[in-house]
Amino acid sequence: MVAPRVLLFLFSFTLLQPSLLQSAPTDFISVIYQDCLRNSSSSLTTSFSRNLNIALGNFSTMASQGTYYSTATASASGTDPLYAVFQCRGDLTVETCYVCVQNATALLPNACPKSVGARIQLDGCFLRYDNRSFFSLDTNVRLALCNVKNDSDITTLTAIQNAMGRVISLAPQQQGFAFVVENAVYAEAQCIGYIDSSECSECLTSYSYGSFCVSSIGKGVFIRSCFYGFQLYNFFDRLPSPPPAPTPAPTAPLRGNAASPLADTVPASSIMSLTESNGHMQWNEPRSRKLQNLQDLINTT
Ligand SMILES: *[C@@H]1O[C@H](CO)[C@@H](O)[C@H](O)[C@H]1NC(C)=O
Ligand SMILES: *[C@@H]1O[C@H](CO)[C@@H](O)[C@H](O)[C@H]1NC(C)=O
Ligand SMILES: *[C@@H]1O[C@H](CO)[C@@H](O)[C@H](O)[C@H]1NC(C)=O
Ligand SMILES: *[C@@H]1O[C@H](CO)[C@@H](O)[C@H](O)[C@H]1NC(C)=O
Ligand SMILES: *[C@@H]1O[C@H](CO)[C@@H](O)[C@H](O)[C@H]1NC(C)=O
Repeated sequence: MVAPRVLLFLFSFTLLQPSLLQSAPTDFISVIYQDCLRNSSSSLTTSFSRNLNIALGNFSTMASQGTYYSTATASASGTDPLYAVFQCRGDLTVETCYVCVQNATALLPNACPKSVGARIQLDGCFLRYDNRSFFSLDTNVRLALCNVKNDSDITTLTAIQNAMGRVISLAPQQQGFAFVVENAVYAEAQCIGYIDSSECSECLTSYSYGSFCVSSIGKGVFIRSCFYGFQLYNFFDRLPSPPPAPTPAPTAPLRGNAASPLADTVPASSIMSLTESNGHMQWNEPRSRKLQNLQDLINTT
């Protein structure tokens, strides 16, 4: 039921009805990481600040209108150039993307008031700006989040491997984003919009998805120009449409908020906690099926 929600949102946005805006989701805005790059000793120049404010305002407006990715460039050939980008996760609804971008654009300049470069990864969106161009492939890993629970069940591990293999090979062919639900595995992969299809493929395969936290039943790997992740529960904002079946399926496909039997083994009330080891962050099951409250626990990086 994506379309009615979007229409409702656009309607409420246009008329600025607070009662409807309050129904916006509060998930997807947890901070996964943020970096203040190259702090200057003094305040930012007036021209940089002005361009930054305009660009971030533009991003919010664009997100409210259904844009999931954009770059902005100002004064590229003059003094105080500005390069900026935002991108929402491909599974987000327009409404959630907008809320996420709104939060990111409000948070980052406050978190890094003297930085000519800064980036923030929220659960649902990414924002970066800098005074030098960064619009190129970067395959360095920033963060790997792993579920502390392992599973040695070969069926589960094979299902994970198949789902990850599929999103990693599909994303470069589908404008940089793919998500699937298969055999109770929820997996997605996404590349930043300014890299091309072959770079996307290079980014997503620069580390084997299995190289972080072997056998973990959930993880998110954030590489500078792409990310991928999977869980045994639904962490998507909207679900992928099921692929057309070549033959009639004997059982109904996963739809709506169908939970897998595996996901049901996860205690919904367990408290998330993170520990850091060797640069890898770990989490156990979140309170809800979405990643929440990561903020306090990962700001040591
Ligand atoms: C903001 O958007 C306006 C209108 O689309 C455009 O003219 C301007 O160049 C943009 N500025 C920045 C810094 O993105
Ligand atoms: C970016 O900002 C830093 C710190 O203010 C400054 O030293 C550098 O010259 C700036 N770069 C450009 C291309 O203006
Ligand atoms: C951040 O998101 C929350 C939840 O939707 C919203 O209430 C809040 O207004 C947003 N903050 C900003 C600065 O956009
Ligand atoms: C840059 O500034 C931010 C915010 O003031 C601060 O949290 C961060 O530690 C600084 N980074 C460096 C490398 O000084
Ligand atoms: C999961 O496996 C990793 C190595 O594969 C190990 O370091 C970790 O302690 C295991 N976690 C649990 C909860 O068994």
